[in-house]
Amino acid sequence: MPKMKKNSRAKSRTKTASRAKSKMKKPAPAKQPKKELATMQDLFLIQMKDVYDTEKQIAQALPTVIRKAAAQELKDILSHHLEETDGQIERLERIYELMDMSPKRKPALGIKGLIDDAKEIFAMKSEPDLLDAAIITSSSHIEHHEIAGYRAIIACARLLGMPPEAIELFRKNLEQEENMDEKLSELASGSISVDAGEPASVEDGGIVAM
Ligand SMILES: [Fe+2]
Repeated sequence: MPKMKKNSRAKSRTKTASRAKSKMKKPAPAKQPKKELATMQDLFLIQMKDVYDTEKQIAQALPTVIRKAAAQELKDILSHHLEETDGQIERLERIYELMDMSPKRKPALGIKGLIDDAKEIFAMKSEPDLLDAAIITSSSHIEHHEIAGYRAIIACARLLGMPPEAIELFRKNLEQEENMDEKLSELASGSISVDAGEPASVEDGGIVAM
């Protein structure tokens, strides 16, 4: 067996030492105390942070969507909803005020996922009419998400016996989301002409027109 040179032996010792080091257990990170969901109030506050952050994310995303839309009617509806969204944020801030709390946000992952999905589609190379159809579809998903969120928080607020002013503010936001959803459905059902190419047949595993 060839004799190892001094240098090689030293290198080998260093390697062995570093392997041993890497095998050593790292100290476990200090455990964070587990958050507790103990009361309906806790659940309400989680939902409140979620709807607040949801509206903020939507207000941030809408200007780009408005720029990308081709049909003026779609641009107008989205622009109007952006104004409404600013008002919805103010109503939620008023509810925080009624609770003697400052507004708090928790990264709302549900809406983030929907917005990320929409961005991925909007970045695709596409004809303007088809991109409008994609905007309507993604916006409709987002509205349904918001409607579910407001219905749940209103139910929770009622159970907690929150003041009628707070319930009314939530209801106003819900009403605007429902109206927006209706407008999007009307657009999808034909007031905007969407030339989406040849429809795929059901036999081909294609979709049936909306
Ligand atoms: Fe909204």
